[in-house]
Amino acid sequence: MKYCYVFNYREMDKELFELECRQLFGAAPKGKVFVTDVDVSSEHSPFMHEKITVLCSAEEADQLVLEVEQLHLESDAYKVVFLGKRTQVDYELQLRLCRECGNVIEGEFSLYEPKVLFGIVYTDGKWLFGTVEKMDKRWLKHHSKPHSYSYSLPVRLARCLISIAGKNDRTRKLLDPCAGVGTVVLEGLHLGYDIQGIEMNPPIAQDANRNCAYYGYPEVITCMDMTKAKRQADCVILDIPYGVMETADEALQIKLLEGCRNLADELVLVSIEPMKHQLHQTGWRIEAQVPFIKQQFVRYVTVCHAQKLENHV
Ligand SMILES: C[S@@+](CC[C@H](N)C(=O)[O-])C[C@H]1O[C@@H](n2cnc3c(N)ncnc32)[C@H](O)[C@@H]1O
Repeated sequence: MKYCYVFNYREMDKELFELECRQLFGAAPKGKVFVTDVDVSSEHSPFMHEKITVLCSAEEADQLVLEVEQLHLESDAYKVVFLGKRTQVDYELQLRLCRECGNVIEGEFSLYEPKVLFGIVYTDGKWLFGTVEKMDKRWLKHHSKPHSYSYSLPVRLARCLISIAGKNDRTRKLLDPCAGVGTVVLEGLHLGYDIQGIEMNPPIAQDANRNCAYYGYPEVITCMDMTKAKRQADCVILDIPYGVMETADEALQIKLLEGCRNLADELVLVSIEPMKHQLHQTGWRIEAQVPFIKQQFVRYVTVCHAQKLENHV
């Protein structure tokens, strides 16, 4: 089965988008349309707009209509749309193709309240036709979680972190060892990952668990010092304390990075500076580092693997 994903992102998010794609799909697209055989749910990436499950394809536009006819599709309340905002396909041709493909589908067409959406995409010299899933935006409800602090990460970034750490593999165990009010944990739970959180500050840990309970998720935040926790995850996502609501000098940050070495062999670090030296010092090899910028809010997202002890200087 082939899938075609249509993405949108701000130019300043390009590196983060490409990193997320490499983790989720094993490769990043050249543009904003991506055809692959990897099946990723339409709510996984904050950059994903539509996912098309490809039913047929053709080299020529008119041939696509014949291919669609061969599918003998039957559907009630369906609509056919042309996808890809920056497509170079002439608007008249887009409309004609939607109409002609629609005409060979049995059933009632619905312009305003379609129950089934079919889509046409033109990419890499090919015409694709398939069923469309619009991005599922239910996760945006996490914007209004009952307990939030000024240091809470943006929900979109939290969702990206889960994609980067989870790699679309629900068997992976994820851990946020400095969970705050659980912004990252909520995204992981919503996407069905096996995720836990640790938070040392009791009132904050309680608020994090209240946030989980508010959305009907299990209360997965343990109140303890993460440097005393035992190995339990495939990947940790550390939003490293940087001195808001707690003291966070370099010695503490080093201790936390060392603590992560005891928890997992993979680390996705969120930090306000690149921290390359500190990562090296604590035995983490940097695989990728990209910025995330939202007005005054600047963070680095760094994917690291634990160095083998003999290489660790
Ligand atoms: C930058 S905040 C995390 C914010 C979180 N990502 C959110 O969006 O709510 C860092 C958190 O780490 C916690 N923390 C600091 N040292 C810790 C430790 N040794 N073990 C567990 N939590 C710790 C702090 O109490 C603080 O809530």
